[in-house]
Amino acid sequence: MKISSLSVALILSSSSVFAGNADSGLELYQEVEIERTISGEQYTDANCETCHGTEIYQREDRKATTYAKLESRVEGCNTNLDVGWFPEDVSDVAAYLNREYYKFAK
Ligand code: HEC
Repeated sequence: MKISSLSVALILSSSSVFAGNADSGLELYQEVEIERTISGEQYTDANCETCHGTEIYQREDRKATTYAKLESRVEGCNTNLDVGWFPEDVSDVAAYLNREYYKFAK
């Protein structure tokens, strides 16, 4: 009894790691508008490619080397920049970036 409910919990928690929805992540990624001064310039509509282009997701020495690290990097930029994404939004954007660039196996 105990063992079977434990394995159900494990299955649920391992699938929830990839629960992010890449399509809504793409929308969030494209529609975000960040208010911030970047390199001395005041923006009201900065986005995820104002500081770095998509090459940062594909560079040799990228910091996100696992799916979990990718999600925490997205969360890092979300928090540092006051983007205001909820945890499920961060998961969606991580799912989108994974589908498009990182391609970590599920
Ligand atoms: C104000 C500038 C700035 C903006 C805007 C910004 N980032 Fe970043 N981001 C950085 C910097 C700087 C790094 C590199 C940090 C490092 O090398 O440790 C980075 C790194 C990352 C990485 C990790 C890349 C890797 O090495 O694998 C991800 C993922 C990321 N950003 C996502 C986002 C997303 C999503 C947004 C939009 C909400 C965003 N960033 C907006 C500055 C920014």
